[in-house]
Amino acid sequence: MLGIGGALGLVTATGLSTAAALARHPSMTGAQLRSAAPLPPPFQVPLPIPPVLRPVAPGRYEITQREASAEILPGLRTPLWTYEGTFPGPTIESRRGHPVTVTHRNELSVPTVVHLHGGRTPADSDGYPTDLVLPWSGVDHGHGMHDPRAVVTELTRDYTFPLDQRPTLLWYHDHRMDYTAPAIWRGLAGLHIVRDDAEESLGLPAGPRELPLMIADRAFAADGSLIYPALPDRPGVTEEYLAGVLGDVILVNGAPWPVHEVDAARYRLRLLNASNARHYELEAVTDDGRRLDLVQIGADQGLLAAPVTHATLPVAPAERYDVIVDFAGVPVGGRVRILNRLGAGRTREVMAFRVARRAADDSRIPGVLSADLPVWQRSDAVRVREFAFRAGRMHGHHGWLIGGLPFDPARSDVVTGLGDVEVWRLVADVHHPIHLHLAGFRVLSRSGRPPLPHDVGLKDTVSLRPGESVEIITRFDGYRGRYLFHCHNAEHEDMGMMANLEII
Ligand code: C2O
Ligand code: CU
Ligand code: CU
Repeated sequence: MLGIGGALGLVTATGLSTAAALARHPSMTGAQLRSAAPLPPPFQVPLPIPPVLRPVAPGRYEITQREASAEILPGLRTPLWTYEGTFPGPTIESRRGHPVTVTHRNELSVPTVVHLHGGRTPADSDGYPTDLVLPWSGVDHGHGMHDPRAVVTELTRDYTFPLDQRPTLLWYHDHRMDYTAPAIWRGLAGLHIVRDDAEESLGLPAGPRELPLMIADRAFAADGSLIYPALPDRPGVTEEYLAGVLGDVILVNGAPWPVHEVDAARYRLRLLNASNARHYELEAVTDDGRRLDLVQIGADQGLLAAPVTHATLPVAPAERYDVIVDFAGVPVGGRVRILNRLGAGRTREVMAFRVARRAADDSRIPGVLSADLPVWQRSDAVRVREFAFRAGRMHGHHGWLIGGLPFDPARSDVVTGLGDVEVWRLVADVHHPIHLHLAGFRVLSRSGRPPLPHDVGLKDTVSLRPGESVEIITRFDGYRGRYLFHCHNAEHEDMGMMANLEII
């Protein structure tokens, strides 16, 4: 058996021994690749904003998944797997309660699965890991194709999203069983924003002063191609990277350490950590060393009841934070760097804003942001469940387990009634960002203590730290069917750390 000690020995980012690592609370679980390509200096490449996808008809979109290449590092081409030829994929802009159907056509050489992360989606469109979209070309069907557990296979697939949910930043990404991590790494991720009139009437910064920021780390070979330590003959990664794959280049919207010109005004930053395993603790620092407030207005599942001000903001894989930063106090020509306090060397830097001009600002941050957050009480819960997220053995290999078991699509792990309120106690050995499909939840406690300031609001992913136990509360409403919960360290997810959540 691979014990926790063994796993930790392999997995700490710092390479410390188990005892030292536990004592020092390693900031991350994973091992970092080293790029061979020359890396650009920080804050030179302009920040790209992903294109907004145009509907082919009201409420209807088409996305072709295909190989493409992009100039990510100046002067080099990086082959990618893409949605519509770009990384990130095109952004879908939706309105609450207005259903959209997205037809995905797979022109890649491997089967894929699309999941709308954070979507309240009927099960048949939620991207169950064996509901494959087969490659259109039909040349090389890849490993998953002959998997007897694959239940639905098609060449194109219509995903229908009712979007009967709170407005927020969602993201769509690949979710194929055993191969999600390399597929996202190669580029299969895009944004999906849900809006409504109530949110738009608040007067928050908007238009060019609202910026989606998809943060992801990658590593590059000398020729500009992405490095990923996949095994040749089965899912998973080489032993050194079992704990998670970290890159040494920080991309925002697909650009390395970019820079963006801003007015001296408030901006709404819609942050997503789309990294496989890297955690960030973000801060906004002026050239004279002053920290700007990060005023959080929203969480994974939409607006908070009231704003919460942070000096630094931890962001685990798959989490989203909706944050206002005010550049008004920064002199024209000044720079604000977004830094990651958990990084080292070049991974400490994320991106920068250059204040280009003074400008009028009629935006505001209302003291009351929303009044429709669920108010579940512990006493509403009809049951309490506990799950341990730990290293272990699966099929004779190192893996990551929930309650001692690796993912099995044929097994029922949780069966719950539509509308039931439950408390879940999640216990971790190392860092595990835990995500529930379908249901937003609230964080009740961390190791018996009150939640952290950034645990506020309605979430769909919660970051467990080493040795921690976190209680969440949720109501399983929306749709009946088979969903998932899993660790969103994408390597852990591929190596077993996923379970079925069946709503009846
Ligand atoms: Cu972001 Cu099950 O996924
Ligand atoms: Cu999800
Ligand atoms: Cu994990």
